[in-house]
Amino acid sequence: MPARRISDNTEMPSGTAASPITCVSALPSAVDTDLLIIPWFENDPPSAIPELDAASGGEVARALASTEFTGKVFELFAAVVVDRNWRARRLLLVGAGPLTECGGELVRKLAAASGLAVRSSRAARVGFVLRGDGDLAELAQAVAEGLTLSEFNVGSYKTHGPAPPKAPAWTVALADERSDIVDRTRAAIVRGRLLAECSNLARELANEPSNALTPREFARRAAALATDGGVKVEILEETRIEQLGMGLLLGVARGSSEPPRLMVFRHEPAGGRYPPGGPVLGLIGKGITFDTGGISIKPADGMERMKDDMAGGAAVVCAMRAISLLQAPIPVVGVVPATENMPGGHAIKPGDILTSAAGKTVEVINTDAEGRLILGDGLWYAQQLGATHLVDVATLTGACVVALGKSTSGLFGTPPEWVDQVRRVANRAGDRVWPMPLFDDYREQLKSDIADLTNTGGRPAGSITAALFLKEFTGGRPWAHLDIAGTAWAEEPRPYLPKGPSGVAVRTLAELAFTSSEWNFRP
Ligand code: BES
Ligand code: MN
Ligand code: ZN
Repeated sequence: MPARRISDNTEMPSGTAASPITCVSALPSAVDTDLLIIPWFENDPPSAIPELDAASGGEVARALASTEFTGKVFELFAAVVVDRNWRARRLLLVGAGPLTECGGELVRKLAAASGLAVRSSRAARVGFVLRGDGDLAELAQAVAEGLTLSEFNVGSYKTHGPAPPKAPAWTVALADERSDIVDRTRAAIVRGRLLAECSNLARELANEPSNALTPREFARRAAALATDGGVKVEILEETRIEQLGMGLLLGVARGSSEPPRLMVFRHEPAGGRYPPGGPVLGLIGKGITFDTGGISIKPADGMERMKDDMAGGAAVVCAMRAISLLQAPIPVVGVVPATENMPGGHAIKPGDILTSAAGKTVEVINTDAEGRLILGDGLWYAQQLGATHLVDVATLTGACVVALGKSTSGLFGTPPEWVDQVRRVANRAGDRVWPMPLFDDYREQLKSDIADLTNTGGRPAGSITAALFLKEFTGGRPWAHLDIAGTAWAEEPRPYLPKGPSGVAVRTLAELAFTSSEWNFRP
């Protein structure tokens, strides 16, 4: 029996009940809160925030003069408020670097880092002073995202030790009083809160051990999350998957005694009417609930990490929820093929040939290259559902981790305009990506003597040949592929991201659904 979580109600989406973030238009001294976080720029004089130094009893000026605190990014400086005219009792200055480099991306990280830093303080009410370089609403959304991301709890199966801290009641303070600006900022905070809640839901799924999150359980939880957000959901079982001819997904599933599932999500814009011939966004996520490698089995060292091989699928599920709750203006379909990759007695073996739903035959050289197999059928199905523009997300290759490390996802696809669109949206959403080339000659590495293609191209350019395999199943539609093998899980904690699942790509996929007016290129 899988362990049961003590804290969590698995019947209901657990990220739904978070309290809203209050937005106030007030000077720092007037923010009614226990603890007030203030981003502090390098070279800010003590007077950058009027009366702050006096309120701290001179501590701010002293710390700056002694260089105990300099405002470098992620430096923290805590002080008590001695001025009883201030509403806040405690201050936390967070270093923000030079003002001109402090846009949305950094502000999101500062909010997450300071949010994490105040967790141990157990303050019931925490304020955050909105400061940065750029559009206020954009900064405010980023702050709401960062604060919300800091609420994520990785240790949900612990039965001993202190309970995880309760999230504080957050307030974001802006100095501006103009009602149009305040309104826009409020709306941005609501949006950021929701997007990051959905990121946290994806992190929760990716954090689940594979004995709890089997493909069936993944589908059940995904259906609850999506349905609750207003998304239409269909869970296809084995017989239906067989009828559709998904030989790649079924091939991977053969080694496991757990049956596969194909999750299908549909968002239709409000009113249910949209111009025929308009774009339909198709999101496809890799849902391997555990990757042993199959018969081409992985080494034992670090294999436990492979419970998060469904992080791409979780990103699609949770992005669909956000897309629906935020009422994206275009139809969006989501497809998540889910299975374990196990070396059971019926498992596929190297040399086996599988026939995809699209009709292409694949010679399986390495059963550990299973993600591209299930995604091949997933990409085909998204097109059957009418998707005109495709994005897939997958913890696909170790080679991508070698190429780009742990903080940047690989971005692949065609045509360049579509790839650029995804790139812009991703970088704005705080999911850093970098484009990788798909030159035709790499395709040689996937040539099979006996079938249409092999599933592996050897060690050179491993993340590229994986992407080129996927390209075979995109039907020539605009397609982007995010390889999140390095970014889905933080091995080392960072100030803004604890060890564990990151929730990467949720916000990118969701925000992308709001940018269709910019998709004015010929496919
Ligand atoms: N899920 C893995 C990729 C992965 C590796 C994710 C490390 C996160 C961290 C994927 O299914 C896989 O095993 N890929 C193989 C492909 C190879 C056999 C061509 C790999 O990268 O080694
Ligand atoms: Mn694998
Ligand atoms: Zn895998």
